[in-house]
Amino acid sequence: MTRELNRWEEVYQTKQDAETSWFEERPQISLDLIAMAGVASDAAIVDVGAGSSRLVDCLLDQGFSRITTLDLSATALAKTRSRLPEDAPVEWVVANVLNWQPSRLFSIWHDRAAFHFLTEAADQDTYLRTMDLALLPGGHTIIGTFALDGPESCSGLPVSRYDSALLAGRLGQGYRLVKSVMHEHRTPWGSNQKFHFGLFRKI
Ligand SMILES: C[S@@+](CC[C@H](N)C(=O)[O-])C[C@H]1O[C@@H](n2cnc3c(N)ncnc32)[C@H](O)[C@@H]1O
Repeated sequence: MTRELNRWEEVYQTKQDAETSWFEERPQISLDLIAMAGVASDAAIVDVGAGSSRLVDCLLDQGFSRITTLDLSATALAKTRSRLPEDAPVEWVVANVLNWQPSRLFSIWHDRAAFHFLTEAADQDTYLRTMDLALLPGGHTIIGTFALDGPESCSGLPVSRYDSALLAGRLGQGYRLVKSVMHEHRTPWGSNQKFHFGLFRKI
């Protein structure tokens, strides 16, 4: 994991946001799926592997008031923090999700392009156990990964790719698929990356 941590710190310390392949000005698919979950503005939402994503900015604009952003990279979260008012209602967590012990329960667990870096079954199990412990009954999870015909690696790290069936199988019977979205992400330099997003409800 030290190698991965160093990798991500190096990325965020040396690149501007718009120089990273995953950058998006507005995370519209994530926002649409969060809207579909239909939660109140005081619902607790966690963005896992948030990096310097604009998701938290957009959720604050929409009035959400209990947002947690978690990432391995302190630099990534510091970048986001510097864009927002000092008193923004955000819990900032610098942690490896695989070691994280959430301090509250969430209505929404969101992850765009972090889960897919877990390529070992044992790590995926640990992640999914933490997610399950962190989610309220009836809560929703949104996981965006590279699709089956998406890239095989990102930032020099291998990824696991998913479609709705593979993701549903990995989450298990405690989760019902609500919506599956195929999405073609356009990188800042104009190439396309195929993503799959799954919105699931915890039964
Ligand atoms: C491709 S970036 C995506 C960032 C953000 N979700 C977005 O959509 O812009 C992947 C992010 O996952 C974070 N990450 C990777 N493995 C992680 C782990 N085990 N625990 C926490 N964060 C992790 C990285 O630091 C990085 O910020």
